[in-house]
Amino acid sequence: MNQWTASLIQQLDDEGQRSVARRGLVGHYVAGTYRTIARPIATRQIIMRAKIVEFLWGMDAVANMLVTIPERYINAFLRAFGATVAEDAIVGDNLRMATIHVNRFEPLTIGKSVNTGRRLIFDLSAEVTIGDHCGLGNDTAYISHTDFARSPLKAELFPVRSAPIRIGRGAFIGSNTMVNSGVTIGQCAVIGANSVVLSNIPPYCFAAGSPAKVIREFDRSKIPPFNEAEAFIIPEGTTD
Ligand SMILES: CC(C)(COP(=O)(O)OP(=O)(O)OC[C@H]1O[C@@H](n2cnc3c(N)ncnc32)[C@H](O)[C@@H]1OP(=O)(O)O)[C@@H](O)C(=O)NCCC(=O)NCCS
Repeated sequence: MNQWTASLIQQLDDEGQRSVARRGLVGHYVAGTYRTIARPIATRQIIMRAKIVEFLWGMDAVANMLVTIPERYINAFLRAFGATVAEDAIVGDNLRMATIHVNRFEPLTIGKSVNTGRRLIFDLSAEVTIGDHCGLGNDTAYISHTDFARSPLKAELFPVRSAPIRIGRGAFIGSNTMVNSGVTIGQCAVIGANSVVLSNIPPYCFAAGSPAKVIREFDRSKIPPFNEAEAFIIPEGTTD
């Protein structure tokens, strides 16, 4: 590597240096050019195509389209159909939406510095609010309604019900977990993998199982406080 190249790499920030290590110097600048010029154009094209799909075939077809959208376009795509998504949230691909024909993606709010795995399911019959700094594992589902479809059980025993889901700031939801309608998970709670969360979970505790039960409480003195001035979304009822 010549001196000029070495000094150029040195001037880059950490992310830039990682990018050079991954792609090489030329690849890094080609990717940067793509990000600043081509990506906004590609994003607009995808959204325009999705709006046409909505006009012709409705929101279920838009949801099918979303499943195939690469991660880098997802935030803009969600916002284009009414969701509130913080700028720096990372939402994994293969995202599925249910019950979106009434309010499109409007009931969905995803906070600042949220990081999700892949193949999540958001059922948007009612509001689903993910607070800042949450981590949502792969294959987790947020199911805000129950409807037994055409079963006679629906008449009296199991009428349709729907209620909001709220996940407090800094909570972590382990892979393969299902969060049921009406559930509020407290700030900085951890839900173990493969859990079924049927009732509210208080802040600062570890809960797991089916149904999820509190297993232990955390020592709050070991958890740095949030920067309140930077709060984007603090879901109702998630703090004590
Ligand atoms: C939360 C987690 C990290 C465990 O945390 P931990 O504090 O180390 O928990 P421990 O292993 O000490 O377990 C404490 C108790 O909870 C139980 N437990 C832990 N995870 C559980 C789960 N997912 N379901 C049911 N019980 C669980 C343990 O069996 C143990 O019970 P015991 O005291 O009777 O033996 C882990 O269980 C988990 O779910 N990880 C999620 C991984 C994941 O989803 N990653 C996504 C990609 S990042």
